[in-house]
Amino acid sequence: MLAVEELHSFYGRAHILQGVSFAVAPGAVLVLLGRNGAGKSTTMKSLIGLVRPARGRIRLAGADIAGWEPHRIARAGLGYVPEERRIFTELTVLENLEVGRQPARDGRPAWTPEALFALFPNLAELRHRPGGRMSGGEQQMLTIARTLMGNPRLLLLDEPSEGLAPVILEQMAHAILALKAQGVTVLLAEQNLHFAARVADAATVIETGRIVWAGSMAALQADEAARRAHLQV
Ligand SMILES: Nc1ncnc2c1ncn2[C@@H]1O[C@H](COP(=O)(O)OP(=O)(O)OP(=O)(O)O)[C@@H](O)[C@H]1O
Ligand SMILES: [Mg+2]
Repeated sequence: MLAVEELHSFYGRAHILQGVSFAVAPGAVLVLLGRNGAGKSTTMKSLIGLVRPARGRIRLAGADIAGWEPHRIARAGLGYVPEERRIFTELTVLENLEVGRQPARDGRPAWTPEALFALFPNLAELRHRPGGRMSGGEQQMLTIARTLMGNPRLLLLDEPSEGLAPVILEQMAHAILALKAQGVTVLLAEQNLHFAARVADAATVIETGRIVWAGSMAALQADEAARRAHLQV
């Protein structure tokens, strides 16, 4: 679904991504793990065109999207949920979802508010609530639901577990597993290894802009030396 090869990105003169390569298979959940400042968000921003990669290839369902404008990349099927929540505070939950609506893709059924309420049951109860009067965790779920209304080929989630209370974290893990069960392809950025282990099939570890480990989630959990060296856990 997504193949990233030798990606290099800069902020000004700072060479942040120094040859990042990985691939996400259709229907898989891949987690990009790394400490603060490792380059997880920069990788995601490079994929969706908010940071323009200096070098490298990004293929999404066969198309080389490196260097495209963000709106064109979104139309090609990359759905991005940033670290900071992005909802319209004056609009209700249902209205927020309508803003995200895009045509269906690849012959798959289009996401509807009702299907998303099945995925995020607490949003169903809040459907007429303005976004500004919801908790941070609820806003995070609404941001994901609204992104899914765009029927993305691949969903990018930047640290969805960050700042969530344990009960909300549990709902988030359930929602990601339900998405996976429906065949949605997901790339997740995380520092929370425990959360990642619940939802991801495979892991890629990034450290100072380089991939230092890649393999199955089970292999990472078995590799204590790698976890200590790169993740401090
Ligand atoms: N807009 C920016 N301008 C300059 N440097 C930046 C900018 N954004 C991030 N950086 C730097 O790029 C590096 C990678 O940052 P990035 O945000 O990708 O890390 P991250 O892995 O997402 O970390 P976190 O877990 O804290 O979100 C860091 O050294 C950071 O200080
Ligand atoms: Mg980040």
